[in-house]
Amino acid sequence: MKPKFGILWTILVVLAMVLSGCTQPAAPTAAPEPAKPTEAPKATEAPAAAPTEAPKAAKVVIATDAAFPPMEYVDEKSKEMVGFDIDMMNAIAKAMGLEIEYKNTAWDGIFAGLESGAYDAILSAVTITDERKEKYDFSDPYINAGQAVVVLVDNTTIKSDKDLPGKTVGAQIGTTGAIAVGKISGATLKEYDTIDLAFLDLTNGAVEAVVVDTPVAADYALASEQFKGKLKIVGEPFTEEYYGVCVVKGQQADFLKAFNEGLKKIKADGTYDAIYAKWISGGEMTKPATGGEAPAATAGVPKAIDAAIKIGIAAPLSGDVKTFGESTRDGALMAIEEANAAGWKIETVVVDSKCDPQEAANAANKLVFEDQVKYIVGEVCSGASIPISQITEKNKVVQISPTSTNPAVTVNEDGSTKQYVFRACFIDPFQGQVMAMLAQELGAKTAAVLYDVGNDYPKGLAEFFKATFEKNGGKVVVYEAYTKDDTDFSAILGKVAAANPDVLFLPDYYSKNNLIAAQVKEKGIKATLLGGDGWDSPDLKADLFEGGYFSNHYHPGDPRPILQNFVKAYTAKYGKTPDALAALAYDATRLLIQGISEAGVDDSTKVAEAMAKIKYDGVSGTVVYDAQHNPVKNAAIIKIEGGKQTFFKSVAP
Ligand code: ARG
Repeated sequence: MKPKFGILWTILVVLAMVLSGCTQPAAPTAAPEPAKPTEAPKATEAPAAAPTEAPKAAKVVIATDAAFPPMEYVDEKSKEMVGFDIDMMNAIAKAMGLEIEYKNTAWDGIFAGLESGAYDAILSAVTITDERKEKYDFSDPYINAGQAVVVLVDNTTIKSDKDLPGKTVGAQIGTTGAIAVGKISGATLKEYDTIDLAFLDLTNGAVEAVVVDTPVAADYALASEQFKGKLKIVGEPFTEEYYGVCVVKGQQADFLKAFNEGLKKIKADGTYDAIYAKWISGGEMTKPATGGEAPAATAGVPKAIDAAIKIGIAAPLSGDVKTFGESTRDGALMAIEEANAAGWKIETVVVDSKCDPQEAANAANKLVFEDQVKYIVGEVCSGASIPISQITEKNKVVQISPTSTNPAVTVNEDGSTKQYVFRACFIDPFQGQVMAMLAQELGAKTAAVLYDVGNDYPKGLAEFFKATFEKNGGKVVVYEAYTKDDTDFSAILGKVAAANPDVLFLPDYYSKNNLIAAQVKEKGIKATLLGGDGWDSPDLKADLFEGGYFSNHYHPGDPRPILQNFVKAYTAKYGKTPDALAALAYDATRLLIQGISEAGVDDSTKVAEAMAKIKYDGVSGTVVYDAQHNPVKNAAIIKIEGGKQTFFKSVAP
């Protein structure tokens, strides 16, 4: 059951606003008096009262505009502040031992009050925006809530945000809703101090639409006694927005840290999901009151199916390529959290498969037989994905590898396609060809190639590079194998130094290449270093590869909006720029979720069938599968310049 928001609530809020003069500019004192903040202890004083007193009391004073249901509002019976934000903050405070006092504060002026020190933080469904980030610091995002368009239930002319030019549109003053309307040329913005007044004017015919955050549209405009049956949501949420807790830049670092840690805790123990389910209607919220198409709760998340799903994530979380595993896990989890926030019920089991054939097989057996997952995202390394695929294929478990590029991952030895196995990336014949052609564009006539003979990925990539390079008239002057445990490459590098090639192709993973490249330097070898997607790691020692190039699946500087939104959200969540491993894991997981959605049931055979026919638009490009379950995708060539990965160019197949 969702809470009800009666007319009384509205009257109370309007009254409070009028009494407190909230239409005046920005003074923090203009805030409506809290209608009894949830039992704030009296003992400590607000920081504004004693700003210079040494060590600040542990209590954190948080402003919220409690007029924004279901995020925060004053309950008509108890007169207490309630809502998603309040429950979430209380749960985090409990988990972290924080003491919180809430201050009910009018939205218009809430940021000014923060700057003047009237409180320590704002928790008020505040969207994290670039403009705001110039002045304020934000917590990790805790909800994705795009702008929804609300109209009268019998309106037939406005079907989405695209129909707003020429219309008068209401929004709360100073909100991202008002900003979004301001950007629609030809639309006239009418601003309101509180959002209920905008809905009132909509029912009175003074505005033709209201633009507001999706939860408020779905769980207040459509659900409150006052407006129920009168309004509907049209179109899809047309912005992507994340809420965060907001503090003055450079301040309250301890509180933000505690908040983020607490958020992780309440997500891990299920508290967050329970709070979400209590306040936000998830599946329900996507349904307008009558007619119209259902807008997605979270932009881009496909419709949830009515079943709990279990997904295994197999990634190398320890060992030589552990950054691959960490990025893969983080990208996949982000996609799953977004889906769960939009009404999916996905449980996740993460295993460390260590980029090793035996460890990977053990991990897959655990996922399939103990955890009974029907879907696996992983592995990164082809040499680990191949043994996993033998288990998944046999047991009808859908597997999607984000970044394993060796052809054998999706194809049986007899050349037939594995029915249950997919990938989100291009394959090594293409990658090898791209790098061989680049070498020749750079004027190379001769190449040396070194590879790990016991590892499918470098071994395959070396062969594909050599084939194209020679086909196009180049000469491979050194082609030498080493083994996994080798650390001394002086013998084979001696041969390279003697042959003095134009380029040296190093198709292995970053950690091995770090070792090799250091010895390349020592030997004074001048060849331009080239490699594949295995180079992509924050732990690649860039100075050893200066002037080198490698092929990759994506570059974070690519300006496409879908990619930039991902980069922004990922960076906000994890505090680092996503590498290709993270981006592809995010794509692979979303692709799988779309496959489940299109199948409509938790049935791995049906999901595999849906995936074979899928058209998925992702961060790293569009995926449509060929007969071998390989997507046809561009490669990004990255150049190491000034110690940084710079985008060189994109190459189409
Ligand atoms: N998310 C929107 C923004 O940040 C609206 C927030 C309004 N919040 C409120 N409690 N009135 O601009």
